[in-house]
Amino acid sequence: MSTTTRGRADRRPSITDVAKRAGVSVGTVSNVLNRPDQVSDSTRDRVLVAIEELQFVRNASARQLRAGTIQTVGAIVLDIANPFFTEVARGVEDRLAADEYTLMLSSSDEDPEREARYLRLFEEHGVQGVMVTPSAGSLDGLLALRDRGIDVVLLDTTSPVDDISSVAVDDVRGGALAIEHLVSLGHTRIAFLNGPLTIKQCVDRREGVLAALADAGLDPAASLVEITIGSLNAEGGEDGVNRLLDADGDRPTAMFCVNDLTALGALRALRAHGVAIPAEMAVVGYDDVVFASMLTVPLTSVRQPTHQLGWTAADLLLRQRSEGAAFQHQRVQFQPELVVRGSSDPSA
Ligand code: RIB
Repeated sequence: MSTTTRGRADRRPSITDVAKRAGVSVGTVSNVLNRPDQVSDSTRDRVLVAIEELQFVRNASARQLRAGTIQTVGAIVLDIANPFFTEVARGVEDRLAADEYTLMLSSSDEDPEREARYLRLFEEHGVQGVMVTPSAGSLDGLLALRDRGIDVVLLDTTSPVDDISSVAVDDVRGGALAIEHLVSLGHTRIAFLNGPLTIKQCVDRREGVLAALADAGLDPAASLVEITIGSLNAEGGEDGVNRLLDADGDRPTAMFCVNDLTALGALRALRAHGVAIPAEMAVVGYDDVVFASMLTVPLTSVRQPTHQLGWTAADLLLRQRSEGAAFQHQRVQFQPELVVRGSSDPSA
């Protein structure tokens, strides 16, 4: 077996290499690996020595593929750099691991074409199921995948069709919680840093914002300053604040950000402009990701049950696989919870 200049083998030792080294057939090596009771002690010892000398590692995928037992789920979220999705993915992984499934995780970046490419890659890899936070595109690709026998669950979006299950949070209620809190503190002019309305979560949160303003008797035209940001992350939050502070008109005294990453960037920009939090600008985020409570001024946020979201979605997928046609599709919806901290309420 040749080696590279770094002294490493330039290919992984195969089962054939082991058989040659031990002076047995490939079938005997396979028996030592899978049915050792069918091999004499002396032959088994010779093969194990050859495995050790060659540092042979069996190719589990090939073995599982042959046995038809490979178990992998592919997940596509909007952005794995957003701790919300990595916390959700941990819930998915914990549930899958209990049934010895592995997880392949990727980001669509809210791009339908990128999402479609990953769906094709997952299918080529022979995954048993996919979990997707849909980007702005249609569900046609997912419906076709399901029709080809790959189970599908929507993650963080309520399914629009009866024969695909989903797990999400009531984002309409979540948007309302943020505004009800700020109105309760006396704010009547509120900035809303939101993502594009091609993203379902942004549409639903905005619906809740408008409903809460109406319930409080506030006219959105006078009480709401909407800033649409291109990216739902810290850069988007900084950009939104800079545009808000450059704008004419009465400056709002409060701000609701579509997620905690956006709020992180907003806080950074507000501080750069010397705006006092919360005295001059009360700030509320969404997700309550792990860093929200750790900030110098801890962030008030609308909490989503991230681990439970992921765990439940994976459990639905696995039940769908085990129950087959008998499975009853579900739209699971969790309720958000407001966590009040110093970025909006100085007494918190
Ligand atoms: O991806 C945008 C947002 O949608 C995330 O921060 C999380 O709130 C999800 O629901």
